[in-house]
Amino acid sequence: MKRPANKPLAGFPGRLVLLGAGKMGQAMLEGWLARGLDPRRLVVIEPQPVKAVKALTRRGLALNPEGKGAPASAIVIAVKPQSARDALPALKPYAGKAALALSIMAGRTISFIEDALPPGAAIVRAMPNTPAAIGRGITVACANARVSARQRKLASDLLAAIGKVEWIGDEHLMDAVTAVSGSGPAYVFLLAEAMTQAGIAAGLPAPLAARLARETVAGSGELLHRSELDAATLRQNVTSPGGTTAAALAVLMGPDGFDQLLTKAIAAATRRGRELAG
Ligand SMILES: NC(=O)c1ccc[n+]([C@@H]2O[C@H](COP(=O)([O-])OP(=O)(O)OC[C@H]3O[C@@H](n4cnc5c(N)ncnc54)[C@H](OP(=O)(O)O)[C@@H]3O)[C@@H](O)[C@H]2O)c1
Repeated sequence: MKRPANKPLAGFPGRLVLLGAGKMGQAMLEGWLARGLDPRRLVVIEPQPVKAVKALTRRGLALNPEGKGAPASAIVIAVKPQSARDALPALKPYAGKAALALSIMAGRTISFIEDALPPGAAIVRAMPNTPAAIGRGITVACANARVSARQRKLASDLLAAIGKVEWIGDEHLMDAVTAVSGSGPAYVFLLAEAMTQAGIAAGLPAPLAARLARETVAGSGELLHRSELDAATLRQNVTSPGGTTAAALAVLMGPDGFDQLLTKAIAAATRRGRELAG
């Protein structure tokens, strides 16, 4: 039977286990259900489930089931990296040979997850970002050699529930990915904060400066999202020669300006990612 294009998870085979239903776990859960996943296929392991997750048990979701469990088709690991060692043993009953393990833990390598699961596990390590909460994240994924084409497609379908998905072949790039898109939302929020402060310094009342900064960042992001033009063209389109924007950009794009600062910041985040991974 052919599935509707907007319900790619309607025919999900077997069971899907979610370890950790915190912010990211819940965002994925919501996305999966919206994309046609039958809640009866879901097992959630979470010590402090929120009401919405508890309510799903009425539709057949298994929450913290007692007993041995049966091998799953996919396991999604969404606990904090520091909880991994305590949390991963709970997956043993579900981690059969056919199970795909999809981890979104920041900084936890494929080799770390391989060590925690039975030998030969198919593993995808992925790095999402916070706009996932509104289905507008971007996730970068990397697979080990055990992941089949079918499992890769399954991982893409599961991750597409929280936004766009990109694949990389070289896991070492994950530190740079984390520095750009994983930490990136913080840079954008900082831009809104800095524009607010600069507006106040230029004489605007604080609440007005905050509203102008917020809507400018949000609206420009949405314009970038919807437009077919790249960021540089959109920037040039609001910059007339000799005008006010050009005056500001001469500062921002000058020596030690925004580009250099961001290059340094992202290099620092990449280095920190490497240090944390050990
Ligand atoms: N948020 C982001 O922007 C972002 C971006 C990229 C990657 N990530 C990754 O996504 C993962 C989840 O992040 P988050 O922001 O969703 O964190 P979170 O809200 O703290 O969610 C983690 C959940 O796991 C639960 N948990 C703890 N120990 C457990 C155990 N032994 N068994 C089952 N569940 C357990 C926690 O429960 P308690 O509250 O009871 O401890 C919590 O509900 C992290 O590994 C993070 O690195 C997050």
